[in-house]
Amino acid sequence: MGDRIFLSSPHMSDEGYEMKYVKEAFDTNWIAPLGENVNQFEKELAAMVGSKSAAALSSGTAAIHLALKAAGVGEGDIVFCPTLTFSATANPIIYQNAIPVFIDSDYETWNMCPKALEEAFEKYPNVKAVIVVHLYGLSADMDKIMEICKKHNVVVIEDAAESLGTYYKGKHTGTFGDYGIFSFNGNKIITTSGGGMLVSNNEEKVAKVRFWATQSRDQARHYQHSELGFNYRMSNVVAGIGRGQLKVLDQRVEKKNYIYEFYKRQLGGLDGVEFMPSNEWNEPNYWLSSMILTGNVRPIDIMEALEKENIESRPIWKPMHKQPFFEKYDFVGTDVSEKLFDKGVCLPSDTKMTDGDLERVVEIVKGLWLK
Ligand SMILES: Cc1ncc(COP(=O)(O)O)c(C=O)c1O
Repeated sequence: MGDRIFLSSPHMSDEGYEMKYVKEAFDTNWIAPLGENVNQFEKELAAMVGSKSAAALSSGTAAIHLALKAAGVGEGDIVFCPTLTFSATANPIIYQNAIPVFIDSDYETWNMCPKALEEAFEKYPNVKAVIVVHLYGLSADMDKIMEICKKHNVVVIEDAAESLGTYYKGKHTGTFGDYGIFSFNGNKIITTSGGGMLVSNNEEKVAKVRFWATQSRDQARHYQHSELGFNYRMSNVVAGIGRGQLKVLDQRVEKKNYIYEFYKRQLGGLDGVEFMPSNEWNEPNYWLSSMILTGNVRPIDIMEALEKENIESRPIWKPMHKQPFFEKYDFVGTDVSEKLFDKGVCLPSDTKMTDGDLERVVEIVKGLWLK
């Protein structure tokens, strides 16, 4: 795999920030369970995104699960969820024995379509929670979505797994709703190898999330449990990596933006190429540079041509309502997300890519238009 170009792979800081915090954990023997790195990572991330409180967890999926639990989602409850997302957004709805209803995207944002959301509320007036996703680092249209959700008095959970560093009208994604979640898995804009964070202005709920995440241990000398618990806490070593990575988030956003602009400049003029949408209110982190192909060249042609040269690329997420496991659940919308899936491709957006790497990708892709 030596010279493979990845879609988005871990990129530790040149300054060695991560090792400094990890070393501190080792030197004090606080590698587990919790410790200073966990406490500080929570504080630093909460401050950075502008939220009152945060809980460091083992994954973004765990954070969505506990956000749903904090929202009171339980057996038989309906939860609205974007159809165009990774399955990790929807799986925790099933963990809680609740029922997902999938909502279509719009072309303007690629994210949850406010019109389809309105329609879904007409069909299902009793909804327990709405999950909004900010896909590929593009923010959903939060003013419109929050207005609809407020009207229906429903809890909003923002899956900002892919959008750390993305702002909507100057406010960080993940801080509009009642709960926001972030992921630090290996392909995210910053990584802890694996991990997640839940943020909220409701400090009591965040404390409850930490309690559930440590097996719901009651305050007693012996092991006493009055509630179902989970082993979802982040370790102190992992949190050390996160603290170091947080210091280079701005650098990573800058490089992702550079990659996006490079591709757009070089490929944007090709027949049938449309890059991911830009809106004046959106300040994306450009996690994955993605485009839609409406001409003769298909996403599969690009993916195969790049793979031959040991370069990774991917289709856009396959909609949840088209997944064998989820297709039995209802869907509200038209065919926007399906079209995005059919026509979309994510280009390699690894922050370690050199200009030479970017030029190679561009040459291979352009070559398909010369055939
Ligand atoms: C949109 C989205 N939601 C949720 C997740 C889950 O995060 P994690 O892998 O940390 O569980 C991911 C990433 O994997 C994601 O891309």
